[in-house]
Parts: sequence; C-alpha cells; structure tokens
Amino acid sequence: MFITLEGPEGAGKSSQIRPLASFLRERGYDVLLTREPGGTSIGDQIRAVLHDTANTAMNPTTEVLLYAASRAQHVAERIRPALAAGRIVLCDRYADSTMAYQGYGRGLDLDDLRRLTAYATGGLTPDLTLLLDIDAARGLARRRVEGEEMNRLDLEALAFHQRVRAGYHALMAADPARWRLIDADRPPEIVQAEVRQVVLERLAARRESADYADFAD
Ligand code: TMP
Repeated sequence: MFITLEGPEGAGKSSQIRPLASFLRERGYDVLLTREPGGTSIGDQIRAVLHDTANTAMNPTTEVLLYAASRAQHVAERIRPALAAGRIVLCDRYADSTMAYQGYGRGLDLDDLRRLTAYATGGLTPDLTLLLDIDAARGLARRRVEGEEMNRLDLEALAFHQRVRAGYHALMAADPARWRLIDADRPPEIVQAEVRQVVLERLAARRESADYADFAD
C-alpha cells in the first residue's frame, strides 16, 4: 500500500511520518519510509540543487523537471520494488507537491504537470494521501520558531504559500476517495493519533476487500 503525506510548510509532516512508521513496524508491517525530493542517492543529489538557496536563477520549468527526475528515479529504484514485495510505502511528499507548488503556486499549466507526472511515474498513484493542513502564515511561523533549515521554496512570499494550500484543497476536492484532511494545527500527539487511526482504518478496509476477493473467486 502506497501512502503519502502532503501539506504546506510547517504542517509537521516529517515529525508525524516517523512515529507513524514506528507504530506500523511495531504492529508487524514491513514499512519503507522515504521522502521527495530525494529517497535515492541520485534523488538526494537533485534535492541539493533544488533546495540550494543560492540557486535564485532557477527557471520554473527547470525546477519542475528536476522534481520529476528525482521522482522517476525514486519510483523505479525504491517505490515500485517495495510495493511489489508487499511492503507499505510511506512517502513524505510525492506528485501532489508538484501540482500544489509548481502548478497552483508557480502557475505552471496543470495538464502539462499531469502528463509530466504520468511520464515520470508510469502512472503510479498513492492509495491514500493525508493532507496535513495548516494556515500558510501559521505554518511558516512554526518553521521559523522550530529553527528548521529554510529551503529555496520556504523563502517565497506568503501569497505563494497561500496558493499552495488552496491548491491542496482543490486537489483533494477533485479526488476525495484518495485524500484525508487532517488538521495539523493541534498538538502533535493529537495529530499523530488521528494519522494512525486513518491509516489503520484504510489497512483494515483493504484487508476486507482482499478477503472478499478470495471469497468471490
Ligand atoms: P520539505 O523537505 O520541507 O518537505 O521540503 C521540500 C520542499 O520542496 C518544499 O518546499 C516543497 C517543495 N517541493 C516542490 O515544490 N515540488 C515537489 O514536487 C516536491 C516533492 C517538493
């Protein structure tokens, strides 16, 4: 099962995904915990170029192609093999980040981005996507307070991050069966409890439909 976490800056995705992975492992699941951009050696090299705050001259098309290149490598080298082995893949950001940041944020054509993503991933779509939602200004402030390293996209104006957040809501509205909205502007342990519950429910539903398929055969 392929699960992704998405959200604007400062939503706490990275600090939520690690305890989720531990929780699932304790329950006996074989989990691959990974992230984008990156997740492979080649992807991490691309990530360094993308996040370098000195790269202010980067063209939006270059940017989106680099995210797609990192993703193509990640899907081929790690995600597809893990799914084929029956593992749970937990990924901190995936193609929806491209739609939200480069599409809604930067204003690149959404249909172009869909085609690019389909090409890069061979059409691999998550089974479940958790949107850790937070007001853009609150999220940015939270990142600063926590003293997290700021990347090239963090330095964009507030209006950019507001478009990103609105973009996530539009993506969710277009495909409600895949997405679950989680209010990330709450204490981390409350958010974690909801994240676990949503994932366990989805795993149980999947098991039930697999049992039913066996029964129907
Ligand atoms: P993060 O490690 O804090 O999640 O940072 C990743 C940054 O990269 C974040 O600012 C969002 C951005 N990003 C995109 O703009 N497009 C993408 O496709 C991905 C995966 C990330």
